[in-house]
Amino acid sequence: MKILITGSNGQLGRCLQDRTGHYDFEVVAVDVDKLDITDQSAVAPFVHQHKPDLIINAAAYTAVDKAETERELAVQVNEVGPANLATLCAELDIPIIHVSTDYVFDGLGITPYRPEGCTAPQSVYGETRLAGESAVILATAKHVIIRTAWVFSEYGNNFVKTMLRLAAERDTLTIVADQYGCPTYAGDLADAIVKIAAEMQVDSGWSKFGVYHFCGEEATSWHGFARAIIAQACQLGLLERKPVVLPIATKDYPTPATRPEYSVLDCSSFPVEGIERNWQSSLETVLESLKRD
Ligand SMILES: NC(=O)c1ccc[n+]([C@@H]2O[C@H](COP(=O)([O-])OP(=O)(O)OC[C@H]3O[C@@H](n4cnc5c(N)ncnc54)[C@H](OP(=O)(O)O)[C@@H]3O)[C@@H](O)[C@H]2O)c1
Repeated sequence: MKILITGSNGQLGRCLQDRTGHYDFEVVAVDVDKLDITDQSAVAPFVHQHKPDLIINAAAYTAVDKAETERELAVQVNEVGPANLATLCAELDIPIIHVSTDYVFDGLGITPYRPEGCTAPQSVYGETRLAGESAVILATAKHVIIRTAWVFSEYGNNFVKTMLRLAAERDTLTIVADQYGCPTYAGDLADAIVKIAAEMQVDSGWSKFGVYHFCGEEATSWHGFARAIIAQACQLGLLERKPVVLPIATKDYPTPATRPEYSVLDCSSFPVEGIERNWQSSLETVLESLKRD
């Protein structure tokens, strides 16, 4: 099976490349420097030339706060880009796996959001991601859309790396404690996606298309996540001293984009089983990898 991975330099893109190597896949992995998904005049000939059997779209505009003032760019990458890819998938009659976000929901829930639950994004980022989902769904029935949340990994920039940097610089960290969600290791998400691809490879009639959720299995606050990062980092000797981590309220840390207060995702309908979702143990893997670097 030949797989085209877009956004290959991002956290998920890098983890996907690590994991597809263990399978009998031919992988074409490209980021914006080689394939700008917003440019259909480049995407169409590229896809026709490489003739993939599956496209995994890991490309996204992920700067949540900047999106508030860069709407057009966010629309291009998060809506037009996925539409371009999905249209080509329809033409070639191949599936697309597209990744989306918990920010499509209003964040006011009190029980985990199910994939079929009502969407009501509260930010430009969330709006553009939801529009991207709709564009994919409209273009082709052969879509797997996976919403995820609070992604971390050994690659790129993320909350784990920010906490390690701040912890090395400061004696006290103040972290938002009234937003709840589920940290997700990009490597676990990549495992989940690759397992779906492997099923598609052996079953040409694979039919579990639809919208799904995948995130780490235990909800916490950003404050809880920060405490876990710092405790594990100290245990591994990645930090020389342990800063105090104090809880603060969202109102004390204003940001341009509204963050969901509650964005726990119900992953019970996910189409493949046996994927690691214990973010605490994946966090240890990531910290060990950062320690080796
Ligand atoms: N990170 C999170 O906490 C989080 C939470 C919920 C959902 N998600 C979703 O999970 C998926 C993977 O996220 P991630 O953390 O791996 O994101 P990421 O690290 O920001 O990676 C996204 C990649 O897409 C690339 N890209 C941007 N514009 C592009 C374009 N026009 N054409 C092709 N590639 C382009 C980026 O390149 P540049 O860096 O050069 O722009 C980057 O390499 C995304 O769909 C994201 O929305 C992430």
